[in-house]
Amino acid sequence: MTTPIFTESDLRAAIDRELPGVRADLERLVRIPGIAFDGFDHSHVERSAEAVAELLRDCSLDVRIVRSGGQPAVIGTRPAPPGAPTVLLYAHHDVQPVGDLALWESDPFEPVERNGRLYGRGAADDKAGIMAHVAALRAFGDALPVGVVLFIEGEEEYGSDSLEQLLSEHRDVLAADVMVIADSGNWDVGVPALTTSLRGLVNCFVEVRTGSHAVHSGMFGGAVPDALTALSRLIATLHDEAGDVAVAGLVSDGGTTVDYPEDRLRQEAGMVDGVSLIGTGRLTERIWLKPTMSVLGIDAPPTTGAPNALVPVAKAKLSMRLPAGQDPKRAYAALVEHLEKNAPWGARVTVTFEHDGNPISIDATGPMFDAARDAFRTAWDGVDPVDMGVGGSIPFIATFQEMFPDAAILVTGVEDPDSRAHGPNESLHLGEFARVCLAEALLLAKVAEAGAEPAR
Ligand code: BES
Ligand code: MN
Repeated sequence: MTTPIFTESDLRAAIDRELPGVRADLERLVRIPGIAFDGFDHSHVERSAEAVAELLRDCSLDVRIVRSGGQPAVIGTRPAPPGAPTVLLYAHHDVQPVGDLALWESDPFEPVERNGRLYGRGAADDKAGIMAHVAALRAFGDALPVGVVLFIEGEEEYGSDSLEQLLSEHRDVLAADVMVIADSGNWDVGVPALTTSLRGLVNCFVEVRTGSHAVHSGMFGGAVPDALTALSRLIATLHDEAGDVAVAGLVSDGGTTVDYPEDRLRQEAGMVDGVSLIGTGRLTERIWLKPTMSVLGIDAPPTTGAPNALVPVAKAKLSMRLPAGQDPKRAYAALVEHLEKNAPWGARVTVTFEHDGNPISIDATGPMFDAARDAFRTAWDGVDPVDMGVGGSIPFIATFQEMFPDAAILVTGVEDPDSRAHGPNESLHLGEFARVCLAEALLLAKVAEAGAEPAR
């Protein structure tokens, strides 16, 4: 039996037919607050994995929920028709915490549409990624022309700590010629992109202790340092005057030719007027290819009710983003050395590791990348896709690439510059989402045409 050939117009019609159901299922997923972070109720992550498993079973995949000490991932497989390639489709079903609820205009876990966008935590990152895969599968019905392996991770937002173990335990079922990672975004509304680099990451905690207990700030202040001032001075050593990271020995990448207009960056990031940009070099270099250092939080007495006392201990959460070529373990070692060496006033500095992830840079040349660009161009009515980097991280990609070095890695996604992933009022542009779904269906058809060999 030969698999029927789907034309572009078949697939356009099929995606149009499937979109209402896909949207309804996306809303069902958004209602499940599956957060893998410590301190959250992980039964929701379990429910979310179940819901994803059900969606995949309905696409006639062979489905299992797997875990390796961490949160549940869902693997769904469907063998390739004879001679056809196998494509791995990746997304994650866990979401970020919602932060300050007061900043949300509507309940984060009750999806609502406003001005062509669907609002809710995970509506874009990355439940829409899951649904783009499901939409493509549904478009082909029983006549899927490629083999597929869906890998829907359950703790991506919390550092993918058990991922390596999980991938090695399921190595055999995960093998694929091509993989589509639907967890990035596009260049702008109306302009598609293929993501060709992502940064790695190291998160850690630094605790600074200057005393064994709090003491009266009037009695001892002036001679005895407080830990919050010491921590602030330590944090201040992490950047140089220009705002570049001042930790010695970190790798910097370079070489992008894409421009990101300063006005656009300021506006998209919501920068307050008069605040200067930090770092040096082309803006795309700074946000895609250079190391960064950010302070994500501080444990210290809240200002309301803070007594007149010298704070004996304070702790900050630090996060570094790292370019391709930088081993996160080495970057962490360099940071620890820097923090210990720069301890102000002899304060006791203790650094604790949280998690890390590898950066990735993709050589986006070859038939599969051409197929992806064609699919994008068609889905966006003739607009050429941009090759872009992103500053964020998807640790899965490097781990997968190590296991299957010959697979072509296509990083796609639904986000646009207004998606506000990780922030309040996260949303999905529904028009762009429809294009992402169509592009993925077109891509699978093209991959099938290109055949099993060669993968790249
Ligand atoms: N979808 C993002 C990755 C991303 C960020 C793609 C920006 C495109 C632009 C992903 O879900 C994510 O946020 N990952 C975490 C990983 C971390 C916990 C290791 C991140 O980058 O913070
Ligand atoms: Mn994501």
